[in-house]
Amino acid sequence: MLRWTRRDLVKAAVATSAAMIGNTALPAEASTRSEAARETSQAAAPPPLDNSLREHLLMDFGWRFSLGHACDPEKDFGFGKMELGGTFAKSGNPGGPAVRRFDDSKWQQINLPHDWAVDLPFVLDNTLVWHGGKPLGRAYPETSIGWYRKLFTIPAADLGKRIRIRFDGVYRNAQVFLNGHYLGQDASGYAPFDYDVTDFINYGEENLLALRVDATLNEGWFYEGAGIYRHVWLTKTAPVHIALWGNYVQSTFKSGIKGPASLAITSEVANDTQQPAACTVHATIIDADGATIATAHSKSTTIDAAKTAIIEMQTTVAKPELWSLDKPHLYRLVATVTVNGKAVDQDETTFGIRTIRFDADKGFFLNDVPVKLKGACNHQDHAGLGSALPDRIQSYRIELLKQMGANAYRTSHNAPTPELLDACDRLGMLVMDETREFSSSPQALGELERMVKRDRNHPSIILWSIANEEPQQGSDRGARMGRTMKERIHTLDRTRPVTAAMNHGWGKGLSEVVDVQGFNYNLGDIDAYRKAHPAQPLIGSETASTISTRGIYANDPKRGYVAAYDNQKPHYAETAEEWWKFYAERDWLAGGFIWTGFDYRGEPSPYHLPCVSSHFGVMDTCGFPKDNYFYYHTWWRDEPALHLFPHWNWPGKEGQPIEVWCYSNQQSVELFLNGKSLGSQQVERNGHLVWQVNYAPGTIEARASSNGKITLLAKRETTGPAAKIQLTSDRPKIDADGEDVSVITVTITDTEGRTVPLADNKIHFTLTGEGKILAVGNGDPSSYEPDHATERSAFNGLCMCIVQSAKTEGALTLQASSPGLEDGHVVIECAAAQPRPALT
Ligand code: GAL
Repeated sequence: MLRWTRRDLVKAAVATSAAMIGNTALPAEASTRSEAARETSQAAAPPPLDNSLREHLLMDFGWRFSLGHACDPEKDFGFGKMELGGTFAKSGNPGGPAVRRFDDSKWQQINLPHDWAVDLPFVLDNTLVWHGGKPLGRAYPETSIGWYRKLFTIPAADLGKRIRIRFDGVYRNAQVFLNGHYLGQDASGYAPFDYDVTDFINYGEENLLALRVDATLNEGWFYEGAGIYRHVWLTKTAPVHIALWGNYVQSTFKSGIKGPASLAITSEVANDTQQPAACTVHATIIDADGATIATAHSKSTTIDAAKTAIIEMQTTVAKPELWSLDKPHLYRLVATVTVNGKAVDQDETTFGIRTIRFDADKGFFLNDVPVKLKGACNHQDHAGLGSALPDRIQSYRIELLKQMGANAYRTSHNAPTPELLDACDRLGMLVMDETREFSSSPQALGELERMVKRDRNHPSIILWSIANEEPQQGSDRGARMGRTMKERIHTLDRTRPVTAAMNHGWGKGLSEVVDVQGFNYNLGDIDAYRKAHPAQPLIGSETASTISTRGIYANDPKRGYVAAYDNQKPHYAETAEEWWKFYAERDWLAGGFIWTGFDYRGEPSPYHLPCVSSHFGVMDTCGFPKDNYFYYHTWWRDEPALHLFPHWNWPGKEGQPIEVWCYSNQQSVELFLNGKSLGSQQVERNGHLVWQVNYAPGTIEARASSNGKITLLAKRETTGPAAKIQLTSDRPKIDADGEDVSVITVTITDTEGRTVPLADNKIHFTLTGEGKILAVGNGDPSSYEPDHATERSAFNGLCMCIVQSAKTEGALTLQASSPGLEDGHVVIECAAAQPRPALT
């Protein structure tokens, strides 16, 4: 076993591609590293890429699902009854749905990802609204347990391979059985977990994977969904293979960021045989065009039977294309393990080459360029889908945030799905990756470790967050817990700083532990903290929490709506303008993360019932922008911008004052009502403009000017009644892979094609072609309409329909109709695509 020398440690600490933080401690000794593995050479050619070495199969298709029962064994299919075998008394015979003979033919047929909470009825009880009004919890035993069963076949020829099943996320407390054998239980609703199932497989026969998922207890104070809501994978490898998340690439630069980049590559190799194995790892670095640009291979390393070794390699990329927000260049590492000269396993890892740095005086730097973090905190659910998002929706949400001008995403308050991080890597979005539980208990450290090990190659990630507003944040106990967590992170990744999102107790407890101090709200405390701790970088880990409902301009507690002017907030919170002006003026603040980019289910401040969704988003649950979105769009992007609100349909308010707001980054804006000027106003940086306008139907128009020239126009017109349905898809062409989706925006217009701002017509959808209507939504925080449906009411002129492809090429036509309105339709082409390898 290698004991790293102090020189090695210093070299690793100084040369990483990430933050250089003054108070960063040295890592714990890397005692698992293999001495022999450290020597590397670039002389030998790598073996050719070979896709047959490892199979990575999606297990999302062909499941059966049924609700069970949390306390009545009869309603839980006899699970746990002694007469059926007695759960864990004998291996392989737990009874109930976990055994093959159980008849599930009446259960629902489903594909993953799946969130059973979406289909539960809304229960309008004030104790449930925090969780989206869905009956989960100890008072609802009949809807809090979900059973899943999937049959699959493994060929006889696979005997001798190692087979693992990985769950990317199950909410929560999953008990997992394969062919009746209990594999284990994982409590986390967010951390991935996996099992080596090699011993339990029926080779050449059918196998049964069964899960009992228990969503009785909650982890958050918001909607969390229920069930296997992320992907499940089965991986087959040789007995000597790269361990799960075993590849890790760190890049460093010899001279600034201009010089060639050195890549320090480690592969954790497992020898699951009964004899020592002499292995070599070959690394091939492939650029975005598929060209091999660097290689390395390790010295031969002997790994003892049933042991793992971390094998190190080193190579250089002569002219690295850096990962940045505008050009998020990605590379691939293909690591191949050979035993006695024969390639036995191969695993691929995406990474990026870039530097990050937090500076106490100048904020955050990406590739030595200062970048103010314009971030958004988010939960993971989306309209219509709950927590079960097709991968495309992850990219869709990141694209919407980027269009607004955001450059950073906080995964509040839990480890995200890997596809979210892939989207951030691909699209150029920085990430603050947050673990769910602030604790140094074995369970919490295990979750943290799995998150860091899984995520550490993503160039998008710039911070590990260990806590959010924890009662222990300012205490000595909190400091001890935080230190243990930070040390655990450092055993896996030293290239990123650790932070905590704190809302009190600064200067004590976790403040003494973290590299970057997080402030949630509390603008009034930040300057004093800075004065007392001038060497510690600071971020706004959570800001704003402004509340608004899309298209609403007067508070309406009865219907649960909040006016969309930027002036509604809980007592601890800030308006968009308050927090951003404060942060924009201080270079030493690295930036901040608004609460939130999107509305989410649950936590419906300020009214609770009748609402079942939050109002914090700058976009609603569908991703339709509210007016606050345009505040950020105006001040976070460089392009000229002008946004005018509210709408101009106020029948019955003729002659009464209406507050008219304008966001613009031009020098001045002049407002007109029906052609008559209401005056011009100078724009204050990061501010907004207001006019009181006595309502008269017609047109309000804003004319923005800079340097004496009119640069932009925006108008709002009084529309006629709802007359037509207009459908617009986010992408006219999707993959015919059975997973891809098109998001269709439904707009209700008048005869002239103008959005009717208060239209609430119920829209009926019909889909022709091979594919399905996956979900519908409208962003109304008080809507109790079903999400898996073929109809939805518009909310303030808009609703949404998500259509999913089948594995068949061809056109899908979505038809939308409503009594009294002209139909709308849109065609989506499902183009030939290679579906991901899947286990059926
Ligand atoms: C914060 C909390 C968030 C959310 C937000 C609402 O205190 O960290 O999870 O609850 O308040 O304003």
